[in-house]
Amino acid sequence: MNNHDCLVILDFGSINAQMVAKAVRQLNIYCEVLPYSASVEQILALNPKALILQRGEACGERTLQRAIPAETAKIDLPSLDLMTSPCDAVTLKNFLLGKCGMTPAWTMDAFITETVAELRTQIGSRKVLLAMSGGVDSSVCAALLHRAVGKQLTCVFVDHGFMRKNEPRQISEVFKDGFGINLVSVDAKARFLSKLKGVLDPEVKRKIIGEEFIRVFEEEAAKLGELDYFVQGTIYPDIIESGWDGGKSVKAHHNVGGLPERIAFKGIVEPVKYLFKDEVREVGKALGVPPVITDRQPFPGPGLAVRCIGELTGEKLDILREADAIFREELESAGYAKQANQYFAVLTNVQSVGVANDARTYGYVIALRAVQTQDFMTAKVVPLPVEFLIEAAGKIATGIKGVNRVVYDVTNKPPSTIEWE
Ligand code: XMP
Repeated sequence: MNNHDCLVILDFGSINAQMVAKAVRQLNIYCEVLPYSASVEQILALNPKALILQRGEACGERTLQRAIPAETAKIDLPSLDLMTSPCDAVTLKNFLLGKCGMTPAWTMDAFITETVAELRTQIGSRKVLLAMSGGVDSSVCAALLHRAVGKQLTCVFVDHGFMRKNEPRQISEVFKDGFGINLVSVDAKARFLSKLKGVLDPEVKRKIIGEEFIRVFEEEAAKLGELDYFVQGTIYPDIIESGWDGGKSVKAHHNVGGLPERIAFKGIVEPVKYLFKDEVREVGKALGVPPVITDRQPFPGPGLAVRCIGELTGEKLDILREADAIFREELESAGYAKQANQYFAVLTNVQSVGVANDARTYGYVIALRAVQTQDFMTAKVVPLPVEFLIEAAGKIATGIKGVNRVVYDVTNKPPSTIEWE
């Protein structure tokens, strides 16, 4: 197994380690990022054919230029020091394929073959549980695990009532009907709404949703009897960004934080933990997961609950779901989706006066938001043409009962956040 060449990137505090890692992998060469302080044993355990010292200024502005540890400097492998060499694609390619003679064999198909074999060895005939959110990571994990162990996998999808239009049905169609995965869908909509009755504070909403999710999930897991492994959709940036010096703390999936500690599993399975997001999408595509899932934009764990301002009611959520569906469809069919990383509707808790059929109406104000972002830490408003916005606003305000006004959010992050709550 692991019959592909490996390169180790030593990160000296650069903001570009991930960028270089992605560039290397695009050449079909597997690489891992280790902290500059990694021991020689740690480095050699990966059996690398070469090293990249990511301490250069050439591709960034904020590099901490630390010296190479004396033991690391003695490693007898070809190395590319990005402090002294430019890190353009041609250098990289010459170095990896030319100087180091590495074979570009790390493809998504190779990853799948290797991972499926490893999962089979790890899991054997035991049972596996996966919390399906319908997001890219958990979906691709489900497809991988299904290929590896088939019916030994059970996925549980908790419908908390804050999904977008048609999503619960889509999840069932893709994974249960399409893949033939054991998928348990739990309709917990009423239960969540009753817990959230009268709650206005966004952070309290999040907390209640998180806790209730765990409770519902635990109850369902108990019904399934003994389960051995729990799947976690950790991806590589979760590991790299959790910080080297802080140790190995890995961000748990937003929806399932705390679960593995509460249910006694024999182990955790993290099949995509060495992949970047785009690679997860590629693996999904190669496994036959449809684009409606692999190309899905990021969606918060508490879903529409943080886009429906004020108290959550079934009526408000239904209005928001419709408005959101219309906006997304309009934006996609007008060809603007590629310019935006996240685009959605928000139900503001403001009601305004309007007019319909010569009569006065009193309805909700819907806000539309579309942003462009690299890292979700900062974001820019997508300057959608006003004619497009007028058209979309018209469809929403005339097509949905209870809505009579639509506004476009033109605030960058910062000072705003992407979500409204
Ligand atoms: P903000 O609103 O902080 O969002 O600019 C940054 C990114 O994080 C997502 N987000 C969440 N994701 N649970 C999640 O899983 C949450 O509670 C949550 N709040 C925000 C948001 O959609 C954006 O991509």
